[in-house]
Amino acid sequence: MIISPSVLSLHYDKFNEELDLLNKHADWIHFDVMDGHFVPNLTFGPDILKAFRRNSKLFMDVHLMVEDPVYFTDVFASAGADSIIFHYEAFNNISSCIDLIDKIHSKYLKAGISIRPNTPVEIVEELLDKIDIFLVMSVEPGFGGQAFIEDSYQKIKYLDDYKKKHNLDFIIEVDGGVNDRNAHDIIQAGANALVAGSFIFNGDIENNINKLKNA
Ligand code: DX5
Ligand code: ZN
Repeated sequence: MIISPSVLSLHYDKFNEELDLLNKHADWIHFDVMDGHFVPNLTFGPDILKAFRRNSKLFMDVHLMVEDPVYFTDVFASAGADSIIFHYEAFNNISSCIDLIDKIHSKYLKAGISIRPNTPVEIVEELLDKIDIFLVMSVEPGFGGQAFIEDSYQKIKYLDDYKKKHNLDFIIEVDGGVNDRNAHDIIQAGANALVAGSFIFNGDIENNINKLKNA
């Protein structure tokens, strides 16, 4: 199981100490980029990602919650991203999504698609044989610390069944409200990667990562 702590919840006054724990115990680092337009919150620019990159060899998992993911793909690719995950709703158009997936692949990065909780997963079915990561949003994007939306289990199962039926191997990553009480069921439904922010950072980071790993 891939554990991808969301550094939205890292305590930046303890950057070195907490990043050191991630370097020892996590698999990926999940980096939530919000532009104040696509979602009503504003987070990190590329210099922050560069600071993580300088201090970590972990896979940098970049989740773009922005209106212009084409522009920000270039920005965060240059800053050291290993994956670029963008939202279907930034375009609401499949061929634009395919163009961006191709662009991400031309930079030798993993390409991921995400959808808001109310967007039906079938809408992006055509993309499933082109992506490396499907990020299931199990909360409304924008803020950490929200409760897991139970309908997400159906999306995860649908994606897992689809993968098996079509012999695909994209990673199903689940983002929002993940904790030690629901991680087991999320994994059983078919998740391969878990993002967690508030659960991991509000408490003992090492212990909490291990709880998710062993769920
Ligand atoms: C929400 C972000 C998530 C968020 C998860 O828009 O995409 O990555 O940080 O935070 P928790 O684990 O607190 O729900
Ligand atoms: Zn995220």
